[in-house]
Amino acid sequence: CRVLQWDSEEPVPRAELLARVAGVRGLLCLLSDRIDREPGQRCPCLAGPDLKVISTMSVGFDHLALDEIKKRGIRVGYTPDVLTDATAELSVALLLSACRRLPEAAEQVRSGGWTTWKPLWMCGYGLSDSTVGIIGLGRIGQAVARRLKPFGVRKFLYTGSGPKPETAAEFGAEFVPLTRLAEESDFVVVTCALTPATQGMCNKDFFSRMKKTSVFVNTSRGTVVNQEDLYNALAQGQIAAAGLDVTTPEPLPTDHPLLSLKNCVILPHIGSATYATRNTMAVLAANNLLAGLRGEPMPHELKL
Ligand code: NDP
Ligand code: DGY
Repeated sequence: CRVLQWDSEEPVPRAELLARVAGVRGLLCLLSDRIDREPGQRCPCLAGPDLKVISTMSVGFDHLALDEIKKRGIRVGYTPDVLTDATAELSVALLLSACRRLPEAAEQVRSGGWTTWKPLWMCGYGLSDSTVGIIGLGRIGQAVARRLKPFGVRKFLYTGSGPKPETAAEFGAEFVPLTRLAEESDFVVVTCALTPATQGMCNKDFFSRMKKTSVFVNTSRGTVVNQEDLYNALAQGQIAAAGLDVTTPEPLPTDHPLLSLKNCVILPHIGSATYATRNTMAVLAANNLLAGLRGEPMPHELKL
């Protein structure tokens, strides 16, 4: 293959991408590259009629215009499974950081706020005997539940496009409507895919149903959450705390109101960020692309 490489960790500027992809047969992209049709351009997916394969180094594919891609018979590779453990681990870390107020407590040590041991100082909420609600009991959702179970969780609830009793049996998880999940969960963990149905799903109504003592965690995509509604819920004490690995936009501007809240822990989209996982994702993305170019089955092809 002749390879045109954007040799930088910074995203390729849109104009540069458009100029360089014209006529390519395969495209390896990141989740920060929007692969769709430029307004006024007849050919979708940027690269023109020769494009046969898109390989994204991510499991999420909401940055790809799938309707257009499918129409043109372009094959798509992605990276499921290999990042499930790392992302589930980070989800648990974020949940614990938010519910036990770890960044806030560590800051107290640095700033001199730690004066003595006080009975209610820096108290938070624990997982023992809790109810955990998982929005999207997919690969990552299950891996989160598997990790949280030994913390003494009493009950798992989940929601999605329908009940999956065989999967849920491992956790004794109950399929419930979103409203009931909000009302009964002490911890809500969002691990669903971003789709038209999930966009903005965690909104004012959702947060108003949650308990004042509940903690909200999102490691899926930022736009599943209405951030203004989340801000209000956190600022007004409608919910106890939140942990976000994904935001709208990314990066979140440093003067964003959410960053002014002590009860909101925000990470820069690092769910899959272990060296081993990112290396495996990169190799898988390259192998998907090569297999697609050869017309062979891809190690992980998205069914369109
Ligand atoms: P899966 O496809 O295995 O799981 C996606 C889940 O979304 C499914 O369980 C599906 O439920 C659920 N879902 C779809 N529609 C709805 C709905 N309307 N309501 C509730 N749930 C719904 O994907 P993964 O677990 O591998 O990844 C999930 C997402 O996590 C990715 O799409 C990506 O956006 C994000 N991600 C983020 C990372 C990070 O760095 N923070 C790292 C990796 C992934 P059902 O089966 O019932 O349809
Ligand atoms: C994905 O793969 O979709 C994540 O957001 C980054 O690993």
